Amino acid sequence: MTRINVVGVTRIFGTDERMVAALADVNLQIADGQLVALMGPSGSGKTTLLNMISALDRPNSGEIFVDDVAIAGISDDARGAIRQRIGFIFQRFALIPTASAYENIEFALRIAHIPRDEWHTRIMHTLAQLDMQPHAHHRPSELSGGQQQRIAIARALATDPPLIIADEPTANLDSHRGATVLELFRTLCQHGKTIVMSTHDATAVRYATHICRMHAGQIVSMAPPTPTNDATPTSPPQNATASKPRTTPRNG
Ligand SMILES: Nc1ncnc2c1ncn2[C@@H]1O[C@H](COP(=O)(O)OP(=O)(O)O)[C@@H](O)[C@H]1O
Ligand SMILES: [Mg+2]
Repeated sequence: MTRINVVGVTRIFGTDERMVAALADVNLQIADGQLVALMGPSGSGKTTLLNMISALDRPNSGEIFVDDVAIAGISDDARGAIRQRIGFIFQRFALIPTASAYENIEFALRIAHIPRDEWHTRIMHTLAQLDMQPHAHHRPSELSGGQQQRIAIARALATDPPLIIADEPTANLDSHRGATVLELFRTLCQHGKTIVMSTHDATAVRYATHICRMHAGQIVSMAPPTPTNDATPTSPPQNATASKPRTTPRNG
């Protein structure tokens, strides 16, 4: 059960000469039990926003509340405590290359302080949910991209976090596997988890409770899926001419 409130968040990357506003004054509210699909073209700010919500990165201005705790300016220790309540699925998986699938999940349980006598049951359960038991003892280099992605998902779910943040979690999966993961996410949300994922997968709209469309560092819309926004590709914000340019040359 997790509520998120993003208030006026701006994140600027780059040097004085060349600055990019990856997020430009973003506001977003996410309630308990929502499955939010962030959609938008590459470079629109999806990953940056997920990194903000999961306390992996700090905004230049604005605030992020996770269950009413302001996380933008908190200490690294407090940040670590927040992150323990979040299952993060990285776009590039971030698996430990020298460890097996089983050991990768075990490591996540260890750092989340899950009692050791629960480890085996939790690992086998999440591997089974992702249909990955046959690969429990394979290292990432012995697995396909899709299999590595499923291990990364299993690792995030094994600690049973109230909030799951997933960066393109189905990007490497075929449509059947992708649908299985999205169905699992929907079931988890129906049981009270909050999930925020970025995706280019048009079928995600069938599973999400909300579609959050982004463009050029801004949120264009945030609403439950409808038959019309199901098929519509991301369009620029209505106020595109009034929005800040993403690239700001110095003295420009
Ligand atoms: N660490 C970084 N350094 C410089 N620019 C970055 C960095 N991370 C993201 N950006 C820029 O911010 C913008 C948004 O990126 P990102 O959040 O990754 O978009 P998306 O996930 O929607 O593809 C892009 O223009 C990207 O180049
Ligand atoms: Mg991204």
